[in-house]
Amino acid sequence: MNVDPGRPIQLVLPLLAGRNVTLRSFRSDDAPMIQEASEDDLIPTITSVPTDNSEEAALAFIERQHERLHTRTGYSFAIADENYVAVGQIGLWLEHENHGRASVGYWIRPSARKRGYAADAIFALVGWARSLQQLHRLELYVEPWNEGSWRAAERAGFEREGLLRSWRQVGGVHRDMFVYSLITK
Ligand SMILES: CC(C)(COP(=O)(O)OP(=O)(O)OC[C@H]1O[C@@H](n2cnc3c(N)ncnc32)[C@H](O)[C@@H]1OP(=O)(O)O)[C@@H](O)C(=O)NCCC(=O)NCCS
Repeated sequence: MNVDPGRPIQLVLPLLAGRNVTLRSFRSDDAPMIQEASEDDLIPTITSVPTDNSEEAALAFIERQHERLHTRTGYSFAIADENYVAVGQIGLWLEHENHGRASVGYWIRPSARKRGYAADAIFALVGWARSLQQLHRLELYVEPWNEGSWRAAERAGFEREGLLRSWRQVGGVHRDMFVYSLITK
């Protein structure tokens, strides 16, 4: 086999066990869960989940999650419940890996919210991310109104650092964001 020495080695997605969730690779039978997320008011606006709620668009989304490993963009996990059924997504994104930083993003399908899945998934991700030698800081950004999100992050050990004014455009509007971080070593 010819190996190109200049080509970065692709990432390998681990299987992570949380208290009530498992973080695993996306599978094609997760498509209905993606289709439900497509109908959420917020998820398609802040993620790459398509607004098109067709099965075809959902399968293309799943394929893109696998490609994140090849491109070293980051680790995209399906959050699975006690029955291994997907209830959401959590990602560890490596855009600023060379500075020792990674960002965390997540969502839970509307029908599975307020059961502790987000907090549990963030906690499981953080536990594993601590073992990644190159990372020293995890960060995430949350709009102040999104109490469910920042409470889940705080429960998993993230600390609020401040308010970033007009930090990001969401739905065509420049929004303030809380910045949260967790120092891993
Ligand atoms: C934000 C989101 C991920 C929370 O997921 P979840 O699985 O319902 O969250 P959890 O059940 O783990 O709840 C964590 C905490 O937040 C609280 N919480 C959850 N939803 C809440 C809400 N809408 N309002 C106020 N508090 C809420 C829970 O009671 C819990 O509090 P506790 O730690 O005091 O017990 C989910 O609502 C979602 O996917 N929203 C749309 C996408 C999104 O906002 N992603 C995050 C972008 S930064």
